[in-house]
Amino acid sequence: MSAPLRLGIAGLGTVGVGVVKIVRNHADLLAARAGRPVVVTAVSARSKSKDRGVPLDDYAWEDDPVALAQRDDVDVYVELMGGEDGPAKAATEAALRAGKDVVTANKAMLALHGQELAEAAENKGLSLRFEAAVAGGIPVIKALTEGLAGNDITRVMGVMNGTCNYILTRMENAGLTYDEAFAEADGLGYLEADPNLDVGGIDAGHKLSLLASIAFGTQVDFASVELEGIGAITIEDIRQAADMEYKIKLLGVAQMTGRGLEQRMSPCLVPDRSPLGQLVGGTNMVVLEGDSVGQIVLRGAGAGEGPTASAVMADVLDIARGIRLPTFGQPASTLRKARAARAAIAAPYYLRLQLQDKPGALAKIARVLGEAGISIDRMRQYGHLETTAPVLIVTHKTTRAALEEALAGFSATGVVEGTPVAIRIEAV
Ligand SMILES: NC(=O)c1ccc[n+]([C@@H]2O[C@H](COP(=O)([O-])OP(=O)(O)OC[C@H]3O[C@@H](n4cnc5c(N)ncnc54)[C@H](OP(=O)(O)O)[C@@H]3O)[C@@H](O)[C@H]2O)c1
Repeated sequence: MSAPLRLGIAGLGTVGVGVVKIVRNHADLLAARAGRPVVVTAVSARSKSKDRGVPLDDYAWEDDPVALAQRDDVDVYVELMGGEDGPAKAATEAALRAGKDVVTANKAMLALHGQELAEAAENKGLSLRFEAAVAGGIPVIKALTEGLAGNDITRVMGVMNGTCNYILTRMENAGLTYDEAFAEADGLGYLEADPNLDVGGIDAGHKLSLLASIAFGTQVDFASVELEGIGAITIEDIRQAADMEYKIKLLGVAQMTGRGLEQRMSPCLVPDRSPLGQLVGGTNMVVLEGDSVGQIVLRGAGAGEGPTASAVMADVLDIARGIRLPTFGQPASTLRKARAARAAIAAPYYLRLQLQDKPGALAKIARVLGEAGISIDRMRQYGHLETTAPVLIVTHKTTRAALEEALAGFSATGVVEGTPVAIRIEAV
């Protein structure tokens, strides 16, 4: 059997501990599959004294992850600290300079610096792999770069933040308000230290930008992802959507259009009987569409110790087996800079307006829509409040530009209270 593959792990939190457990518990299985043992030689975290529930005495300890990344007895630097810059990026760069392969679960770092890091790795013939960074335990990076490599990918979609899906599911199933469901998720430890990373769509947007790069052969462009979180979704929206046989999901969609690359992470209505509509709780789902294969649906745990460590080990095993793939499925130097297109493809929209209870109010709204070239598919007025009445409108297909013209027009009518809610209805 060949020499062992030696891992240096920086970060011994949820994912790091999961990786240590797999390496310890599956030593024989890993060695058989890789044709060589896979071992941990050194680790790093902030606190050396913290009890992490796994024995660490056999491993060298480094306080400084950069020092860990450069050690002679480390072949693969495993970055599991997190953070887009700081020690994670410094240690990753140091590892690549020192000729080490890198495996990471760090989507923030790759969404912002993926291109430069991939080029640095590939210029030296090294691997930089990130299966665990997107949709946790779902092997979606492998599916795109390997399983679907013969396809022209037409669209990538996904529910890739389990916390948001949990909150929306609890609002729907338990009748909780957004604030109540948010507090429950917080109590269960589901939210990031900065909750806006979850509920603002940023974390899921990072993942979408990574998938888009592989799918369309383009440089990662997180800055161009249109982001909208779930904070404005109300229980009324969820109920009305259900009444029309839709579910509301924080859905990521990336597709190449005639006008450029469209990347959106925003609340969308999806048919309730579709696989995405049936996804409940913290589970993730990624939908991939290719010209030859049609539609592929992948579903599974998007986070957590075991699932995320499972994905890290898939990359480690590739390296142990001598399988080298470019980070984004093709050499980083050949990835194009895509023009960003804002919601270029027309879609129907769900609108909820708080309309003053005055004669002619509805006619004014209909006129604004007509002037923007938007036709109405369905309209419903329900449950008058004291001086206002909520009105729901489902439009026929329209562009985002026309919708924005109408939304601006609504406020000029003087009959709309507050900010109208507009949610895209995605064909899935
Ligand atoms: N958790 C998941 O389910 C999941 C899923 C997919 C991807 N990811 C990604 O995986 C990465 C790790 O996530 P996690 O949930 O395992 O994080 P975590 O539980 O917060 O653990 C982070 C670890 O990094 C260590 N650390 C932080 N700053 C450090 C520094 N400056 N020097 C040395 N060590 C440092 C911490 O040390 P101490 O323990 O001593 O504080 C801790 O062990 C992140 O990029 C995350 O986005 C996580």
